[in-house]
Amino acid sequence: MKRKLRSGMSASLLAVAACVALHSPHSLAARDAQTILKETCQGCHTPEADNALSRISHQRKTPEGWLMSIARMQTMHGLQISDEDRRTLVKYLADTQGLAPSETDGVRYAMERRLNTVEQFDEKTSQMCGRCHSGARVALQRRPAQEWERLVNFHLGQWPSLEYQALARDRDWFDIARKEMVPLLAKRYPLDNPAWKKWQSVAPKSDALVGDWSFSGHVPGKGELAGVMSVTVDGSDTFKVSVKGQYADGTPFNGDGSAILYTGYEWRGNVTIDGVTMRQVFAAQGNAMQGRMFEAEHDERGLDFVAAKQGSSRLLAVQPGYLKAGSETEVTLIGSGLTGKPNFGKGVEVVEVVEQSADRIKVKLKAAANAQPGLREVTLGTLKGPSLSVYNKIDAVKVVPEFSVARIGEGGGSTPKVQGRFDAEAWGKGADGKPYRIGVFPAQWKVEAFDDRAKEDDDVKFAGTMQADAGVFTPGDAGPNPARKMSTNNAGNLKVIAAVDDEGKSLTGEGHMIVTVQRWNSPPIP
Ligand code: HEC
Ligand code: HEC
Repeated sequence: MKRKLRSGMSASLLAVAACVALHSPHSLAARDAQTILKETCQGCHTPEADNALSRISHQRKTPEGWLMSIARMQTMHGLQISDEDRRTLVKYLADTQGLAPSETDGVRYAMERRLNTVEQFDEKTSQMCGRCHSGARVALQRRPAQEWERLVNFHLGQWPSLEYQALARDRDWFDIARKEMVPLLAKRYPLDNPAWKKWQSVAPKSDALVGDWSFSGHVPGKGELAGVMSVTVDGSDTFKVSVKGQYADGTPFNGDGSAILYTGYEWRGNVTIDGVTMRQVFAAQGNAMQGRMFEAEHDERGLDFVAAKQGSSRLLAVQPGYLKAGSETEVTLIGSGLTGKPNFGKGVEVVEVVEQSADRIKVKLKAAANAQPGLREVTLGTLKGPSLSVYNKIDAVKVVPEFSVARIGEGGGSTPKVQGRFDAEAWGKGADGKPYRIGVFPAQWKVEAFDDRAKEDDDVKFAGTMQADAGVFTPGDAGPNPARKMSTNNAGNLKVIAAVDDEGKSLTGEGHMIVTVQRWNSPPIP
């Protein structure tokens, strides 16, 4: 497999070729990584032809995936390695044995730490592999059959009781894993994939990312924001970053930090916004960056982020993205290279251009009383992308996320609480009778007992507090609570209820939140 992948090239040649393609540091850093591999890994991993090492040279994964493997070598196998050497290795391995952007499609939520994602895998993968960790952890790796098989063997060897736990008693886990999962995984996630080869030859230079980026974001429980992120070079594949933005209500969103680029597109930043360190996990490709930015200590607090490089022409967002028929409102178009007058379709008229620059256009809109309800494409010359929804009345309210997990914490312990963060989405009914999303509305929030058990145990009283005007739930303290039955902890099972006002009529939506114990083990890929 290795020979096929490298088509006869030696590993060091490949390393140099990949470095040239990725424009990562000169071969010096690559040699450094080679030295580290020889000196710290080769003791256990057998050298093979073409400068390869057993196991290590036959897998591809994300920077987080490589970090987890090496960290496991430290915690389980006694590997000694400095943090600096580990950083060098992760960078080198992610660059030379990473995933192509398309290979991460649909599973980036795991790296972006969207921990409330309800995964969609086939039944077998979910039951066999998704009971202990995310299915994304599997989908973010590429291996030949033999390496998938060794991974299965490692699971059972490392956790011999696996077949008796994790609800696995209902099946012959090992047999199914070897006979059915291995071929399936090797076919679905093969080491050898043209997409990776192609990416290695087309990956742009990292300095293509230098410049100003116009961005748009949305923070659940807080609202929309926009601004400019400036990127300057600070070494090879490393950058200085400065963010200047503001929320729709004018609150500033400013800060500075640094970032590093793995695999030619995996942007990982650390930016301190108003004294709080936030991580950036973006895919940076061409003139577009997209992903999530979240607090380092509280990954549940974060924003969806999308950015366009200044100098390119792109329409990113319309804030807010909705308008009531028969009313007037101001909306802002965010993007780059914006010129001209936007068009919002029939029945929505631009009354006034309030403000206009290449990054944003603020307009006052008027929707005719008979404007057709539904989603309409917003266009600006040839640019399009975002939509505007026009509505008559709100038909339904949805709590997002519909199902979520919050966690108790602190209470004398070092693990922080994990909050619940919610949005109330209004939905309308189109002329065709089909539901469409209007957008996020302000709401009044509360929690209720999810079932009789929760009622009997008074979960509402103990599990935490919902901020009535913001959809932010802060769980109770960790540890036993003498005020509860049998001094149990402050866990609970709750309904999350949002009430949205539509001209005097209140509509409610309902979600489900489990308030549970601390996450003791929080690896980079859940
Ligand atoms: C003390 C022995 C030891 C050292 C040193 C060591 N490893 Fe390992 N490695 C193992 C063993 C044992 C396994 C198989 C069990 C497992 O996967 O944990 C393994 C497996 C692996 C795997 C395959 C994991 C998988 O998911 O299939 C990778 C990748 C790896 N090692 C990387 C490294 C790297 C990189 C280094 C050097 C920084 C290193 N190892 C150093 C013992 C070691
Ligand atoms: C009994 C629980 C359990 C089950 C079932 C399970 N895993 Fe794991 N898996 C783990 C644990 C624990 C780790 C190690 C995490 C760490 O290194 O921090 C792991 C690690 C992994 C890794 C990362 C290995 C590396 O170093 O790159 C992959 C990939 C993986 N599992 C795939 C699978 C697949 C595929 C299946 C189904 C065939 C599966 N897992 C089933 C518990 C489980």
